[in-house]
Amino acid sequence: MRIILLGPPGAGKGTQAQFISKEYDIPQISTGDMLRAAIKEGTELGKQAQGIMNAGGLVSDDLIINLVKERITKPDCANGCIFDGFPRTIPQAQALADADVVINHVVEISVPDDEIVKRLSGRRQHAGSGRVYHIDHNPPKEDGIDDVTGEALIQREDDKESTIRERLATYHQQTEALVGFYQDKAKDDSNAKTAPDYDKFDGTQGIDEVKQQILSALKG
Ligand code: AP5
Ligand code: ZN
Repeated sequence: MRIILLGPPGAGKGTQAQFISKEYDIPQISTGDMLRAAIKEGTELGKQAQGIMNAGGLVSDDLIINLVKERITKPDCANGCIFDGFPRTIPQAQALADADVVINHVVEISVPDDEIVKRLSGRRQHAGSGRVYHIDHNPPKEDGIDDVTGEALIQREDDKESTIRERLATYHQQTEALVGFYQDKAKDDSNAKTAPDYDKFDGTQGIDEVKQQILSALKG
């Protein structure tokens, strides 16, 4: 099963991807996590991405498309995967379609902008695994420490309020169009075999409620 998680920064894509990944035993492909790993390793890709990410913009379509195309050939993707933060532009979505990558479900998580600004300032993350916490809504067992590895949690560089506002603007300008793109694909009866199911969820509900609703829609 291949799933796309669509939604603004901070909607809960990473949080929900981890639940789906466990339930279906398919990997989470987070282009954001992959780019942050490249920055940490100091690779050429990381050097190109760092400034753009810290300014709340988007890394070039070519770089991202190559990164994802390579990733989905890995053996752990044989039974599918969860795309988290990809595609983010129409050319990225078109590249997936042109490569005949069939998408079974598109899951949109919607949260208003003001809620997102509040939410992201409380986020903490484990850099190695991408595991996500929130100081109030999903706290680690011990303050500032990852539950699984015991390593320190970090606050993301791009979770400053000014950068969050830029990321939201970028979402509205370049990514939101994918809602219409995939809703149209879902309605395309002429392509019934390859048309994805499209479901939208209210991401302002609790983490567990959103999880239950998504998992039950995926089963449906
Ligand atoms: P990326 O890492 O993908 O960031 P994003 O899309 O901005 O999304 P976030 O990771 O901030 O949010 P999320 O929806 O995963 O929410 P989370 O579950 O963490 O991308 C970063 C950057 O990389 C981009 O800005 C861009 O520059 C570049 N990039 C990445 N992909 C790219 C691409 N395809 N093309 C070009 N450039 C690309 O949750 C957020 C917080 O809220 C957490 O603290 C969580 O605990 C909490 N939370 C989650 N759900 C709930 C809930 N229901 N109620 C209360 N709190 C909740
Ligand atoms: Zn994320």
